[in-house]
Amino acid sequence: LANKQLKLLLIGLGTVGQGLIRILLEKGSHLIETHGIEFKVVGVCTGSRGNLYHPEGLDLQTLYDSSLNREPFASDITERTTEWLIRNEDADIVVELSPTDLNDGQPAIGYCQAALESGKHVVSGNKGPAALAFTFLSELAKRQGLFFLNEATVLSGTSVFLFAQKSLAGLRINQIKGILNGSTNFILGQMELGHSYSDSIEMAKQLGYLEADPEGDIGGYDAQAKLAILSNILFETPIQLADVKRVGIADISREDVMAARAAGKRWKLIATLSRNGDHIQASVSPECLPEAHPLAQMNGTSNALTFSTDLLGDVTISGPGAGGVETGYAILTDLLIIHEGHNHELKSRTEGH
Ligand code: HSE
Repeated sequence: LANKQLKLLLIGLGTVGQGLIRILLEKGSHLIETHGIEFKVVGVCTGSRGNLYHPEGLDLQTLYDSSLNREPFASDITERTTEWLIRNEDADIVVELSPTDLNDGQPAIGYCQAALESGKHVVSGNKGPAALAFTFLSELAKRQGLFFLNEATVLSGTSVFLFAQKSLAGLRINQIKGILNGSTNFILGQMELGHSYSDSIEMAKQLGYLEADPEGDIGGYDAQAKLAILSNILFETPIQLADVKRVGIADISREDVMAARAAGKRWKLIATLSRNGDHIQASVSPECLPEAHPLAQMNGTSNALTFSTDLLGDVTISGPGAGGVETGYAILTDLLIIHEGHNHELKSRTEGH
């Protein structure tokens, strides 16, 4: 089979965008060898540095080097707006990685809509569209025969949707419970080691774990949105963010976590989504767990999710929950799903199904 090419338009070049570019630089030839696919970045749109587009593709190394400084792009073409580029330029997939806004989800929802209306698949690592407009965008995608994929929004690079939809297919999931926010888990861990609350937040910021607005993590809003996304995608039941009870970690002191540790316990920010018939209950709240509890084992930015199922009982997955390359990997997972989808469609056509 001849190598195929899929053209990507990236919206946003922050931690995750840089992580994805690093992956494409490091794994590009491997992906061609193993999957027969080349992902070519043809454009990048940013809020503060301008927009770039070249139909033959941008040089990834130059783009990566330039993404490390915050200078405006030398060949900026901002006169062509992000939405104009999405609608009019030649790209197969729009990768939406602009900062999450959980109030109205904009401008990201508009970008996803523009991409789908103009015949482009969407891979989104942005929690706004998946939490606030999943039904609208996934129905639009379906009508257009396109993908709208969101693996990067929950558990970062650790596959949750692919896992639940493929490996747990046919089971009924009654409850999903776990640690969904990497930075607060990291911060609580630093405080256990004796670091102050503010120093721990600063460390998480330096390492690229926090949202653009850290209150999103600390206040539990990020975990709240992730529960809404899980309900949208896995329970196929939309819930409002306001219906998810939410308490963040701001009232947990260094003394609290150190005292708990000394008593063989650990404070964790726990997110729970349960369903009983059509009724969904969701909450985010700190819990003091015994050290032997599976969720108490999570260190650093690790996330974990326990699915309570009818036939298997509890199934737990865990892995990285934040970070540029880690989340960039989830984007790659979705890009490969689109590639496989294309292959499947091509195969069906040539075989006359
Ligand atoms: N700020 C998020 C977290 C990033 O800490 O979990 C990954 O969604």
